[in-house]
Amino acid sequence: MKVLVTGGAGFIGSNFIRYLLSRHRSYRIINLDKLTYAGNLDNLKDVEKNPRYRFVRGDICDAGLVDKLAKSVDVIMNFAAETHVDRSIMESGSFIKTDVMGTHALLEAAKKHGIKKYIQVSTDEVYGSIRKGSFTEKSNLSPNSPYSSSKAGGDLLARSYFVTHKVPVIITRSSNNFGPYQYPEKVIPLFVTNAIENKRLPLYGDGKNVRDWLYVGDNCRALELVLRKGKAGEIYNIGGGNEITNLELTKMILEFAGKGPELIKKVKDRPGHDRRYSLDFSKIRRELGYRPSRDFKKLLCETVGWYIRNERWWRRLKDGDFRSYYRRQYKRN
Ligand code: NAD
Ligand code: DAU
Repeated sequence: MKVLVTGGAGFIGSNFIRYLLSRHRSYRIINLDKLTYAGNLDNLKDVEKNPRYRFVRGDICDAGLVDKLAKSVDVIMNFAAETHVDRSIMESGSFIKTDVMGTHALLEAAKKHGIKKYIQVSTDEVYGSIRKGSFTEKSNLSPNSPYSSSKAGGDLLARSYFVTHKVPVIITRSSNNFGPYQYPEKVIPLFVTNAIENKRLPLYGDGKNVRDWLYVGDNCRALELVLRKGKAGEIYNIGGGNEITNLELTKMILEFAGKGPELIKKVKDRPGHDRRYSLDFSKIRRELGYRPSRDFKKLLCETVGWYIRNERWWRRLKDGDFRSYYRRQYKRN
């Protein structure tokens, strides 16, 4: 099987490529990635010489390039996206370009070349915020940020290519991932690395927003199940079953990093900040046999340990593009 993975130099994509290469000796992977600020070939150092892996630097919006690559593969898995909510609040054009127009270019190529499976890696954020209960795959889309709206646009296009053009599209919607190789703008790596540096942890609003944390390795297992056994035209929610408030999460991070609560700094809230995400992921459990890991605290502690041991990896990122982003971000506080 030959798989075109887009956005494979990012957090989830790089973890997935490593997982797929180790699990299936006959699979070959092409990784198409633009290497934006979030794309990092250091994430894939251990597989770069694998003869079953090839990296191509390029944009998913480049229809000619996408068409050329799609010709030679069986499956397309689209991880490529602009992904950070706070950045989408500052500037949303690149989100619409990549998350909507880029998805369109991939779907066109999938249609033209009779791709056997097209997997659109999406997010629980397309459903919006929920006070009580959990979203199922049948829930309405109600995205609240430019990021989640762009992702919802990509999802709707993908769905339409299944209905109209019979492209075998599958959409996955996962909750908040955590684990190694996550760019340090996202809350867990930002808070862990700030704690290591004895810097304050900027907690938005009252800290009572709830996220359902999913270990990236669990998401990779779920995505591999979808790749092998998922049904065309279906949507699969992928949750972790670990709903906690940001304040609880922050306290755990500080405990595992060996630091005290005096590092917490309450800052102005994110505009349009979704209060709670919650997924009903019984469908993927029932139909594909997915089970998330049980021990969230242990996995979070291991993740904190990974960032403590891999300072060289994140130091380079925090000293680069991240600095100017962070300065702009804190102008609003
Ligand atoms: P990330 O920001 O770490 O990586 C995104 C990758 O896409 C980078 O390597 C970047 O260079 C690449 N990219 C961006 N624009 C591109 C373009 N135009 N052409 C080619 N490559 C491009 O993202 P992530 O956290 O790994 O997320 C991967 C996917 O999973 C995204 O689609 C995201 O919406 C979705 N998702 C993420 C989470 C999460 O918690 N991180 C949860 C649910 C869904
Ligand atoms: O739910 C899935 C989504 O999770 C993905 O689709 C997105 O790509 C990913 O970025 C993530 O979105 P969130 O906005 O939930 O993640 P983030 O890490 O930015 O924030 C998590 C929570 O922490 C959120 O409630 C905001 C809060 N937060 C975040 C940052 C960066 C803070 O309190 N302080 C911060 O500095």
